Amino acid sequence: MTKNKFQFPSDFIWGAATASYQIEGAWDEDGKGENIWDRFSHTPGKVENGDTGDVACDHYHRWQDDLKLMQDLGLNAYRFSVAWPRILPSGQGKINQAGLDFYSRLVDALLEAKIEPHITLYHWDLPQALEDLGGWPERSIVDAFVEYTDLVSRTLGDRVKNWITLNEPFVSAFIGYWEGRHAPGITDIDQAVRASHHLLLSHGKTVPIIRQNSLGAKVGITLNLTHAEPASPSLFDKKAAVWRDGFINRWFLDPLGGRGYPQDMVVNFGQIMDFIHDGDLADIMVPTDFIGVNYYTREVCRSTEVSEEDNLPQITFRGDEITEMDWEVYPEGIYKVLCRLYFDYDYRNIIITENGAAFPEKVIDDQVDDQDRLSYIKRHLIMTNKAIQAGVPVKGYFAWSLLDNFEWAHGYSKRFGLIHVDYQTLQRIPKSSAYWYKQVIKDNAVRDEE
Ligand code: FCB
Repeated sequence: MTKNKFQFPSDFIWGAATASYQIEGAWDEDGKGENIWDRFSHTPGKVENGDTGDVACDHYHRWQDDLKLMQDLGLNAYRFSVAWPRILPSGQGKINQAGLDFYSRLVDALLEAKIEPHITLYHWDLPQALEDLGGWPERSIVDAFVEYTDLVSRTLGDRVKNWITLNEPFVSAFIGYWEGRHAPGITDIDQAVRASHHLLLSHGKTVPIIRQNSLGAKVGITLNLTHAEPASPSLFDKKAAVWRDGFINRWFLDPLGGRGYPQDMVVNFGQIMDFIHDGDLADIMVPTDFIGVNYYTREVCRSTEVSEEDNLPQITFRGDEITEMDWEVYPEGIYKVLCRLYFDYDYRNIIITENGAAFPEKVIDDQVDDQDRLSYIKRHLIMTNKAIQAGVPVKGYFAWSLLDNFEWAHGYSKRFGLIHVDYQTLQRIPKSSAYWYKQVIKDNAVRDEE
């Protein structure tokens, strides 16, 4: 048996990620305002099992214990999001000092523990008051996001030097306002496309503000990216793959990269795009210090435009290994996505801000032996390492997630954590993947047996 060792650059960032609504709980405590996920999850039929984030992992009260767990893991970075309505309960105007203090304490404690905070400003918990004014499809939301970002970066910017404006604007816009599977649960393509533009504009307008408020800060955005592959060489399947790639990847990468919105998708969406004002595209293409990528799976694209008989036989199929989310395990995809960001879009600083998997698991004798998650992360790290070998500037990796948590419309039914959470007792148990990841961080390398 030979052992391969995949060594990472000496300044590689090793982290784990979470998001406010998914872990904090304390949904109506200490002056926090209602957010769209509070409203959505409290509406019967929206979330599996009627689960809500009311308590979640109770991180709001247990954050010190969670910090100890991070220290035990040896993390050198932690990515978390700030809950907008904890800071500004109505989204704008009146400030809730208790909310700011919560994050301020967390940041101080992280720094004390030598764990670098990476803040996401928006990970989907929009203040309900802003949704009531029209939400992301309404242009006035950009001013509200500017106000919120200015406040948070002025308060924490002396200590926090890594900022992500938005997490996955694709999901906010298209799953929230078109598919309606996520809050606010609207199903209108027109609103979704507008939302995507106002999200990107909010990003573009706040990058300079954060830089002003936080000297030397690194500012970026996180996108969920995938590798879209035609199921056969037929023109139909190729077209399906180009559509999927345009929808998930290019709709965001192109305007951020200064290429404007991809014309094929403008046509596909059937939008007039009259909500783009002069100067918007210039704002959106503001250079960032890094791009964050969340990678989970690839998409094998089979056309639904033609019958199977009129299409060429399918030659590319999803592999047999599928996670509990029904996502194919396809580590080569992360390599392809990383290469594209560098070779095609010219990003010189790439951070994997999420990667991980949900699998069914059991607690036996106070232990969780999650070999499938461990293997998923291991193979994606090896592919990441290969991308680095090929010259792609990947600077860090954040496992999704530190803790099992509220997986949006799936509620608590899907577990992504390195650390198991018992939702009855709220007890935390590090899984095998956590012990393994700790060793990876310590060695700054992944070992593989062949
Ligand atoms: C991403 C989200 C994250 C988590 C993972 C599984 O799309 O950013 O909050 O739900 O998927």
